Amino acid sequence: MGHAFEASTWLMISIYSLHHREDLYPNSKQFKPEKFLQKSYYPYEYIPFGGGNRRCLGSALALLEMKLVAATVLSSFQLELARYTPMLPARRGLTLAPPASFKMVVKRKLAKVC
Ligand code: HEM
Repeated sequence: MGHAFEASTWLMISIYSLHHREDLYPNSKQFKPEKFLQKSYYPYEYIPFGGGNRRCLGSALALLEMKLVAATVLSSFQLELARYTPMLPARRGLTLAPPASFKMVVKRKLAKVC
């Protein structure tokens, strides 16, 4: 695609940039999880766990853990952001995570259904 690189150059894909491409993810900064119900993404459009033969080995465990933690916490507590200020993702090692200023407070403990 018109780019030349020296032999042995390391190239890394920016998963963050891919997931914020305006043509694939309009208004990508908006929290809208239902977008995954409205469209299915090709393996080269959505790659949180990488791809090819080095794809994450723990993806199934990670997805299960996330669902269990979200369901356990959200069915027990009503949470709210501590401060409503714009926040940018922060680099943590090789990954991106919420910044240190990201805090949530428990507003209410929800009654158990069963
Ligand atoms: C949300 C959680 C996780 C995310 C977003 C994630 C993401 C990734 C990504 C992007 C890669 C690189 C793939 C590549 O080089 O193309 C990777 C590799 C890897 N991940 Fe994960 N991962 C997660 C959780 C886990 C867990 C829970 C485990 C183990 C229990 C795990 C084990 C591995 C291993 C062993 C590799 C290296 C695979 C290889 O190089 O052959 N990951 N992960």
